[in-house]
Amino acid sequence: MARFDGRRALITGAGSGIGMEVARRLLAEGADVTIADLDPWRAAEELGATPLRLDVTDAAAVRAVDDVPDLLINNAATCTDTPFPELGEQEWDADLASVLKGPFLMSQALIPRMAERGSGSVVMMGSINASAFFGNDAYSAAKAGLESLTRGLAVRYGPKGVRVNLVAPATIRTPIWDERLTRDPALMERLTAWYPLGRIGTPADVAAAVLFLASDEAAWITGTVLRVDGGLSAGNARLVSDILTEDYLR
Ligand SMILES: NC(=O)c1ccc[n+]([C@@H]2O[C@H](COP(=O)([O-])OP(=O)(O)OC[C@H]3O[C@@H](n4cnc5c(N)ncnc54)[C@H](O)[C@@H]3O)[C@@H](O)[C@H]2O)c1
Repeated sequence: MARFDGRRALITGAGSGIGMEVARRLLAEGADVTIADLDPWRAAEELGATPLRLDVTDAAAVRAVDDVPDLLINNAATCTDTPFPELGEQEWDADLASVLKGPFLMSQALIPRMAERGSGSVVMMGSINASAFFGNDAYSAAKAGLESLTRGLAVRYGPKGVRVNLVAPATIRTPIWDERLTRDPALMERLTAWYPLGRIGTPADVAAAVLFLASDEAAWITGTVLRVDGGLSAGNARLVSDILTEDYLR
């Protein structure tokens, strides 16, 4: 028997990147998967999932979602690269809306109904940008808010059988990086040097963590932040080299 046999999963932002990989793996492990995205069709057709055209920032559209899943993966997000001094109010609002308001709306619409049923598992897609500054002020502030929302929901709905956790990835090569890579094609190779595990991450690295937290193996885990970051937040080898000489790291 597969880990997710008979489970219904709804994944926002699964039309691309990490969410699509989570969808692929949940399907492979027996789940019925709905891909909720601004453009769900291509991914849904490729994977054999159910497409749901949904803008997670549209409160009326989110409230109209009538199918209550067993697993809710709040993954959709956008991210503006405009530096802080020029960051426009609309760009701020757009990042806050996709990163924080979307998961709020989805959670408020679906978690109470999961709780009525007495079970459910929710995984938020956070970022290491929530815990240290790596650029993208609006996106990062919103991801920090998402960690707080995760804890609040975990405490409120734990007694009703619903677990809420968050996965916080560092650099993962997905279409969200396309614009930056067009500007700077060698970017990924340069970033590799910052990662203790010697490479940037893949959607599969993140999907494995999401599936663990979503599954019954994590039955006594709620309100947690699981970093999937290749060791980035464990420390800074370049800084250590400067302090203690290169030899120290051999
Ligand atoms: N790629 C990384 O390096 C990285 C690192 C840390 C966290 N993350 C997080 O992982 C998640 C997925 O990112 P990705 O890299 O796969 O990006 P991506 O751009 O490949 O996928 C994002 C998906 O979200 C959808 N989407 C955007 N706004 C939406 C909305 N309002 N309603 C519905 N769908 C919407 C897009 O259509 C797209 O299919 C995001 O939450 C992102 O913040 C990514």
